[in-house]
Amino acid sequence: MESIDPDAEPENAGTETENEPADDTGGNAEEPADENEAAENGENADGEASGGGEGELEIFSWWTGAGEEAGLLALIDQFESDNPDVSVVNAAVAGGAGTNAQAVLASRMQGNDPPGTFQIHAGAALNTGWVEAGRMEPITDIWEEEEWMDKFPEDLIDMITSDGEIYSVPVNIHRSNTMFFNQSIFDEYGLEAPTTFDEFYDVADQLEAEGIVPLALGDTESWTALHLFETILLGVLGPDSYNQLWSGELGFDSPEVAEAVEHFDRMLEYINDDHAARNWQDAAQMVAQGDAAMNVMGDWAAGYFATDLELEPNVDFGWAETPDTEGEFIIVSDTFGLPQDVDDPDTVRDFLTFLGSVEAQDTFNPLKGSIPARVDADPEQYNEYGQETIDDFQNASLAPSLAHNSAAPAGFVSQADQAVNIFVSSRNHEQLIDSLQTAQEENIQ
Ligand code: GAL
Repeated sequence: MESIDPDAEPENAGTETENEPADDTGGNAEEPADENEAAENGENADGEASGGGEGELEIFSWWTGAGEEAGLLALIDQFESDNPDVSVVNAAVAGGAGTNAQAVLASRMQGNDPPGTFQIHAGAALNTGWVEAGRMEPITDIWEEEEWMDKFPEDLIDMITSDGEIYSVPVNIHRSNTMFFNQSIFDEYGLEAPTTFDEFYDVADQLEAEGIVPLALGDTESWTALHLFETILLGVLGPDSYNQLWSGELGFDSPEVAEAVEHFDRMLEYINDDHAARNWQDAAQMVAQGDAAMNVMGDWAAGYFATDLELEPNVDFGWAETPDTEGEFIIVSDTFGLPQDVDDPDTVRDFLTFLGSVEAQDTFNPLKGSIPARVDADPEQYNEYGQETIDDFQNASLAPSLAHNSAAPAGFVSQADQAVNIFVSSRNHEQLIDSLQTAQEENIQ
């Protein structure tokens, strides 16, 4: 995956169409919006200079296609109907987890052509990326004017704060450590959702004996394997030790990480053979269609199931925390901020103010599969998956996501992503551990 790297070369840009979906119901199947190509060239769909302009707002994200765009489009509709003078340019670049978007963004930022606002994960991506590079405007004043300081979880506010200033507005909270499963398959074979690694192997063996692929993986975009691995790290290490990896207090050469790598290797024994040809939606779809029983994915998969495939939670699909992570919550929060030097900062600020409203959060999140970042949103707007996750979040121990750029700087994420990707075929434990250890020494103090 391409991670945010303020120093990346502009040549990285423009790769958004390179990963074709395995079939045309997968999420990236839709052609990127026309605006996307223009966005790469620093133009909007009309060929005008982007990044603002009177009454224009360019929103840059990687939310295109199935499982991704419904929430964004609903937000844009709402904002445009509240602000009839503003026309929104949807500059989304296809590719899960920002696989392509982050490189396009880096290129535009380097070319002094920032979008009006862009999707960025709370935590390291924001703070050690564009904030540290001095390319974002603080928006603490919006937070004060809107009286938001007690409307969002304190831990989340910390993740978007640097040197006492707040730099973005979280639109959602996704959970990474979720295992989705096909309810009918589990019912048919009398299986319970596994909650520990041992239970997972037990269930997976039974499924395999029935000729069913136990675990769907779609790592044509390699972040999905890193995603699976982060959930295993948390399961084995627990939140305290997991967090110590990101502060450098615990090395990747520790016995706990070796144990996590053992589990990773073992879990990979149960995946579909064509994993490298699928993207995340294609893997989730295997579960939806009964071609595989389980899938470890962030809960954008819950949005994909419910919004795009019209599946019913607890009827068509079930879920549980990934093995040994009950009561723990790997947080992935998409946020939007104000880049420096946009043409029309006031319109961007209006949009950010809207994003933080209960109305916007409850428009976006029920469609996206995420929960509202605001603590006072309306749980009635959410399906059973969302309501349970809202409850879980209140009492959970939080941990930042590695695969989604919250735990560690971009340099570490891309080295880890590559090492994990190699491991999926090599299964060489020592090599993975050495690469992670080196990446830690190079990127984390
Ligand atoms: C995550 C992002 C989610 C979702 C997912 C798949 O990084 O936070 O909102 O879009 O990638 O693309």
